Amino acid sequence: MRAPIRVAVSGAAGQIGYSLIYRIAAGDMFGKDQPIILHLLEIPQALTSLKGVEMELDDCAFPLLEGIVTGSDPMKVFEGAEWAILVGAKPRGKGMERKDLLADNAKIFVDQGKALNRKDVKVLVVGNPANTNALVLAHNAKDLPKENIRSMMRLDQNRAIIQLAKKAGVLARDVKSVAVYGNHSPTMVPDYNNATIQGRKVEDVIKDKTWLQGEFMTTVKKRGAQIIEARGLSSSASAANAAIQTIQDWILPTPKDDLFCAGIYNAERDLFFGAALKDQKIVLGLKIDSFLEEQVKITEKELLEEREAVRQYL
Ligand code: NAD
Ligand code: LMR
Repeated sequence: MRAPIRVAVSGAAGQIGYSLIYRIAAGDMFGKDQPIILHLLEIPQALTSLKGVEMELDDCAFPLLEGIVTGSDPMKVFEGAEWAILVGAKPRGKGMERKDLLADNAKIFVDQGKALNRKDVKVLVVGNPANTNALVLAHNAKDLPKENIRSMMRLDQNRAIIQLAKKAGVLARDVKSVAVYGNHSPTMVPDYNNATIQGRKVEDVIKDKTWLQGEFMTTVKKRGAQIIEARGLSSSASAANAAIQTIQDWILPTPKDDLFCAGIYNAERDLFFGAALKDQKIVLGLKIDSFLEEQVKITEKELLEEREAVRQYL
């Protein structure tokens, strides 16, 4: 057996945590032959609930799970972790935008940045507003290389894939190279110019520009809010699934005919921007039309505004 990988998850007793950690322990993230030690962080008030989560982990008797570390001090719980999936943050409720969470959630990423201020850890930020929380973390972890931090955009990519698949009457696996640029917010920009359906350009299959620029965009951008409206709670199983895919995107080669999305650090702008990636590099040469170009400017402006709103934490 290989040596175990230590994976930290914050907010481990929350909704996403409850969908995520059992899948990590089952080998869905790092593979079915990779032993895992879980480091689970929660706030003190949720430690009793976390105890229950830990008992259930025990009762799954996962062959790959070699240990569980729990606690509420990020300095202690993150010690030795090679990966940190930062989910712990307040979710939005009905009628809120993700940026309404800035004031409450940004502070969390100051402390967690300090606790992850080292070179040998890779960090995925899931807690919202994910891009700007990643920026706060990056500024508070100067020794942590910026390329070791990503914010989650994979859920947006998946949402775009399934809408295109349904419209074209094909399966999700037939849709490839769907990029989503910018912020994980209603200003995000799903790219219908460079995506493919069964190897053909989307616009050659779905010959309905009004739908692509209208209903498609709106559905993907507003999907999180629609789920909150329907469940009374924000997405959790699909978010956990996207977190698992984001790590796999990070560690596995990208299939030749595909790309993946994550928020990565843009040094020029000093923000985390959703980008199209392939084998860990930005995909160069993707051309977008003037409609999408305008939208990219809007999402960038929003990220800059979010950055100014957290200036005190940078
Ligand atoms: P939740 O309220 O069910 O769980 C959050 C957990 O985090 C709670 O158990 C809470 O005690 C814990 N927590 C809060 N502050 C913490 C801290 N400082 N340290 C450690 N743990 C802490 O919420 P959820 O549904 O699991 O969502 C978590 C976050 O993920 C929210 O901000 C939500 O908006 C976000 N989210 C992001 C995406 C994305 O695509 N980026 C998708 C879905 C949800
Ligand atoms: C999502 O996109 O489902 C999450 O970011 C939760 C939310 O607030 O929409």
